[in-house]
Formats: sequence, structure tokens, C-alpha cells
Amino acid sequence: MKYGHFDDSSREYVITNPKTPVKWVNYVGSMKFGGIVDHTGGSLLCKDDPALNRIVKYIPQLPASEFKGETLYLRLKEPAGYRIFSPYFVPTLDAYDRFECRVGLGYMRWITEFYGVRSEITVFVPRGASAALRQVRVSNLRSEPISLDAVPVVEYTHFDALKQFNNADWVPQTMQSRARRCASGELVLMQYAFMNKNRQVNYLTANVPVASFETCRKRFLGDNEYGTWQQPLALLSAQLGDYEARRGDNIGALLLELGQLGPGESREFVTQLGQAASEDAALEAAAEYRDGARVARAFAEQRAFFEDYLTKFQVHTPDPSFNSMVNVHNPRQCHTTKNWSRYLSLYQLGLGERGIGFRDSSQDALGVLDRQPDEAKALMRMLLSVQKRDGSAMHQFNPLSMVANEGDSRERDDRPRYYGDDHLWIVIAVSWYLKESGDYAFLQEEIPFYDKHKDGSAIERGTVLDHLERSLDFTRKDRGAHGLPLLGFADWNDTVNLPTGAESCFNANLYGLALKELIELYDHLGDQASVESYRVDYALMKKTFNDVAWDGAWFVRYFDADGSALGSRHNSEGQIWVNGQSWPVLSGFADSERARVALDSVERLLNTKHGIKLSSPGYKGYDPSKGGVTTYPPGAKENGGIFLHANPWVMIAETLLGNGDRAYQYYDQINPASKNDAIDAFQCEPYAYPQNILGDEHPEFGLARNSWLSGTAAWTYTAATKYILGIMPTHDGLRLAPCIPRRWGGFSVTRQYRGAEYRISVKNPSGVSSGVKELFVDGRLIEGNVIPIAPAGSLVEVELVLGQAISSARYFAASPSADPP
Ligand code: GLC
Repeated sequence: MKYGHFDDSSREYVITNPKTPVKWVNYVGSMKFGGIVDHTGGSLLCKDDPALNRIVKYIPQLPASEFKGETLYLRLKEPAGYRIFSPYFVPTLDAYDRFECRVGLGYMRWITEFYGVRSEITVFVPRGASAALRQVRVSNLRSEPISLDAVPVVEYTHFDALKQFNNADWVPQTMQSRARRCASGELVLMQYAFMNKNRQVNYLTANVPVASFETCRKRFLGDNEYGTWQQPLALLSAQLGDYEARRGDNIGALLLELGQLGPGESREFVTQLGQAASEDAALEAAAEYRDGARVARAFAEQRAFFEDYLTKFQVHTPDPSFNSMVNVHNPRQCHTTKNWSRYLSLYQLGLGERGIGFRDSSQDALGVLDRQPDEAKALMRMLLSVQKRDGSAMHQFNPLSMVANEGDSRERDDRPRYYGDDHLWIVIAVSWYLKESGDYAFLQEEIPFYDKHKDGSAIERGTVLDHLERSLDFTRKDRGAHGLPLLGFADWNDTVNLPTGAESCFNANLYGLALKELIELYDHLGDQASVESYRVDYALMKKTFNDVAWDGAWFVRYFDADGSALGSRHNSEGQIWVNGQSWPVLSGFADSERARVALDSVERLLNTKHGIKLSSPGYKGYDPSKGGVTTYPPGAKENGGIFLHANPWVMIAETLLGNGDRAYQYYDQINPASKNDAIDAFQCEPYAYPQNILGDEHPEFGLARNSWLSGTAAWTYTAATKYILGIMPTHDGLRLAPCIPRRWGGFSVTRQYRGAEYRISVKNPSGVSSGVKELFVDGRLIEGNVIPIAPAGSLVEVELVLGQAISSARYFAASPSADPP
């Protein structure tokens, strides 16, 4: 079965059968105002924070056929009575003659035909606005006139999205709706919680006259709510009840009488669902998008934004599916993860204290560095402000209140209250940001640490550079019996929660990479004393790791509090872990022999046709001494599932060893676009990476879940652009070190870097993977493989010929300065 296809010319995916295996979604706007729109018209919108200022009620756990958040009804007046249907298919589920949902960059667009009525609807959030617009055009395809009404409907939620579900007394008593009119006479429905009347007022309006309205769900569905969303009884009367609800389940429904449409005739209108600080402010805001031309301009602006965003890096290779992922869908997903962290999706529901993840967002920042360095920097500032004075970091924070917490580590009193890895990720994020932007002044910017006085003021501030040093200090001091960094509550793998005292090899290698970054930075800043001292730390951890962690054919993953290894051939479950093998290559801790043997073990023991598993074999039963990982059956999520986030690290490791064919095989096998023809097994959107796919120990091997919000986006983009295409920003300019499949005859890239445009053409005449034979910059042959930084505004023509030369030293060349003395 197929549910749709890619339309690369319009940069859209087109869903043509609405009965997809799970809802497929798109994101509109940003966390400032926006959210999810699903392919059957439902929406989940919020302003500034999904947990504390949610607007629309969307319950993903309800069946796909159910009303969720928003819809539009059309009502045909026919001789036998009204025919009521939704142009989105859900919730009325009528037979359609045509269904097309175009998943675009920041917008969804439907073209559907039911009962001789064509509907063309586009939903988007204008740049900077706090409203979602739906532009609707309905046309009469019949040969006789029709008479038509349109009824857009929204179901509101309490602003505190969790309270909506756990308090059914206070919540309904607070919900308020009012109808007001603008100076020009248009009706605007206001909705708010009583306490937020002068803070957060939701509004719904249309740019055509409203004949009548309803704000109470009970009255709209009718018959004490034994009426249904499929056939709301209020729609059987000529007009809605004009009722202003002062409690209960609030909705907004507007009856728009479109009148008679002759054959071929169309009508257009625009609805707005937004939020403003008061009723008066809402009336003013609502006025802005009444004019169709203004709406068209706003849509053009938001398209131009993505056009510009995409132009910053464009590639042309012999592989169209790689091009389409790297040029459009992957950077688009990176934009989404940068905005939403792991906060709001169909799977991560944005309720309660989830907030923005420190580890997650530090990595998400990496995915937009080349296209939105300023946005990445703004995100890093927020992250640094929840770092503690001891160098560790709060695990997550709420972006509206900036209140942070220690995440799931709070759930177990017998475990440490911090994560052993969080604070190290920000070192990599800031370092890569500097390499991209050259904005070294950022290092001197002062940012408070999270520790606070009683009055809420910060106890201490430090420069960004201080923050980075504290990160490394924390891990240097926080070591266990083998001299490896302690695990804390968990490392990157949130679900392995070992008793206090356990050590993490992942943290050792992440620390190694962070040290390498600081060594390079201090080298660039000319601070040789710091270079030397961090080199000592690097050498010590490298030696410690190699002395204790090699297991014969791979590296172990953890040492438990009692000193025993996890991820060893001596274990019957959880014998080998993928991050245990890829990260020693990323950190430079593994020598070339061990690196090769470990990565071959990954290929042999962990790779499947749907991607690389996180570990094998899975744990067979619940074991609280291991933690969350054993709550999953074998093959699911972190328990031997294909956790996609960890796949690009193997791709990167393979490129560092010069193995372009295998790196590319790993890239290709998780490309969601390639699942389009086998989608009934995969189930999720073929235009975004999911977080996990069930592994081969599970009967539903190949089934994906948790689409969109995953570190897979940033890291696969990084693997593709910085390691396979090999265009890596350094402190001294762009370094070119492609590592491609040998069958590629070459590729070309246009990339912006520090204000200049680089047009890079790579030729592969002798069918190799890597090795820079010759590098010409503006026609001149240069030595080495780093293109000097060009003045902003200039255009740099680069030609690179792959072949034998500096290639054999490539892996070790990646970290020469950081090797132990
Ligand atoms: C989820 C978490 C992420 C963690 C990963 C592996 O994606 O958001 O922080 O690293 O799971 O456990």
C-alpha cells in the first residue's frame, strides 16, 4: 500500500489516501506560536510553551477517526436536507473523489473533492504572528448551482495542558467564552481561563460575516453530548445558538453562509485562530489578516523564509534520494527539533514538566548551525543559563518560566540526581558554533549559572568560556573506581539507570570529544598553557579507557557499581552496545586497529536491513537494578531496538576510518524516503526520521514510532554534510575531507560560510571514497585541505579531486594535537 509520494519540484510530500497507518503530521509556526497539524486537519497549537499555554485540545490516543483540535464542516443544502461533511475527511469520514494533503515547509495544503465540492485549504502561521491562518477556497464542480455553508470549529483546552486531564472540576469552572465585534463589525469569539482574561485570550474569527456561532461543546454536539462530532446536531438547524459559554468544554464554531455557488463558481474566506494579551488586543490582532492580499503576502514571506533557509546549503550528488533528504526534508526536520526539542509531538505530549532537554537541545543546535547560527546561539544561551556552578546541568527546563528540573532522575531516591553527560554536550555545541560563525566574542558573554539566592537572583555568573571549563571540570572530578566518569542517573541512554557508583564509557568518550574541542579552541586562541593542561586530561582518559574497556572484539559500555562490565561477551543480555563502539572513534580514543574491529562487530552483531540496533541481545525481563531499559520487551526502543539517533554516529565513525561505502549504506538504510514503498511495515511519515524502529527480536520488526523529534535529525544531517560530503568548518576555515561511496563520480555543493558563498565541486575520477589529491581555490592549487576564510560577500570557487594523497593519514589526522604525548 502507498499513501502518497514526494513532489520534489514543490518540496512537498503529497498524501493521497487519508487512512495512513498512524496520523502523519507537519509543524507550523514555532514554539513562539504554532504546533502540529495532522493530515486530516486536526491541530495542536500553543504559544510559548505547550505545557503552560496550550490553546487547542488534541488527544493523540483517541482513534484516528476522531475529531482532534480543529476541523471544518461544509453544509450543502440539498432537497432531502443538509449534507454535512468535512473536507479534511475526519471526522465525518465521507467517501471522497479526491484527497490530497500536501505537506509543505511550514504549511499544510489540502485539495479535496467530496460531493461535487472542491476545497483548497492552506494552513500556516505568518512569520512572527501569534495566529494560525486557514485560507479556504471552495468551488462548485457540479453542473447545477449549490447552496453552501462553512463551519470552522476549534475545541479549546485549559492553558495548563496537564490539568485539563487531571482536574474535571476546577478546569471547566474556569473556561470562558465571549463574542465581540470589531469596529468594522466582524465577529470575534474570545476564549480564556478566567484568571487569564488580561493575559492570554484565544480568539477565532473569519474575514467574512458570521451568521451565528456556538462556544459550548454540549450545545454544539447536542442531545447532552450523545450527538457526535461526525454529525453535530446543532448543524441540523439553520443557525447556531449564539451562546457564550461561561464554563464547561469550550469550543469556537462559526457559521459562515457562503450562499449560492453557480457551476464552476468559488468562494474564499480566511479563518484565524490566535492568542493576544486581552480581548481588545485580540480585536486588534484579528484585524491584521482580514485582507486576502495581506494573507497572501504573509504566506509568501513564510515561504521565502524557508527558501532562504534551504539555500544556505544545497548539494547535488548522483543519488536523488540523498539530495532530497539533505536539501529539503532533513534540514526542515532540524528546524523543527531546534524549535521543539522533545517537547511537543504526537508521541511526546508536552504535558507537565518535560520542557526543553539540555542534552537534546544542545544536539539540536548542531543541526541548524550552517543555516541559522544566530538561532542556535540564542538556544545555547538559554541552555547555559540552566547549567549549575559545579559544571553539571539541569536536565530540562520550561522555556516560559525558565524553571529547570532534574528530569526522571527524581523518580528514584536510590540513584544520583544528575545525568553524567548533559553538561558535556554544550561544549561541543558552542565549539561547533564558533567554528561555523567565527563569533569568538560569544566566549566572553556573561551568563548566570542556575543556582539561585532565595529571591531568585543568580548566585554567580560566568563567561561562556567559564561555563565550558566548568563542564569539563565536573567530569574530571566525577570519576569512579576504574577512573572513568560516573554514570550519574544515566548518560545519553536515559534508560540504563545503574546503582550509584556505576561508570559510563559513553561519558568517557563524550568527555574525550569535548576535550578535543577545547584543545582546538585554546590552540586557536593562542593559550598554550590551557592546551597543554587539557591534553594531559585527554591522554589520561584515553589511557584509562583503553586499559579497562576493551573486551576482545569490542568495547564494553558501562561498569556497574560492583565493578562488573555491561556490554561484554561475558553478559548473556546487553552484550554489545553500538555507542560503545562508535564513540571511541569520534573521541579519537580507539586506535585504528581497535576501531576497525569494533565497527566490524557492529556490522556483524547489530546491523539490520532497517538500521543499526542500539544493543543486543535485549533484556528478557524487568530488572530494577538496570532501570528503564528493562521495561521494554526485547527489540523495542533502548532495549535492543533500532534507536535511529545512534545510527549517524556509526556513519561518522566509518567515514573517520575512510569507509565511505559502509557509511553510505548505513545512511541509505534509514532514509525514511526509502520506506515509502514499504510503508505499511514502517507506518510513520516517510518525510521525517522517527526516533525508533522495532528491532529484529520483536515480532513487528521494522515498525517506526516517535517521528519528528529526535536527535537523529541533527546527527544524520551532520553525518551527511560534515562527514560524508566532508565539508567541516574549523577555526581556520572550511576543511574538505569527503568520504563518499566509491561509485559516486563526484558531487557539488553550494554552501554559505561566514558570509561568503562557496561553490564546491568534487570529482572522483578514480572511484575512491576519500583522499584529497588536489584542491583548487579560485583556480589556485592549495596545500592541505582547509580552505582559508574568504571575506564576507565573496564567492569562492572550489574544485577538489579525490584520489591518493593525504587520505591514508585521515583518521589520525582528525586529532593529531590531542594525542597523548
Ligand atoms: C530520548 C531522549 C534523549 C536520549 C534518548 C536515548 O530521545 O530525549 O535525551 O538521549 O532518548 O535514551
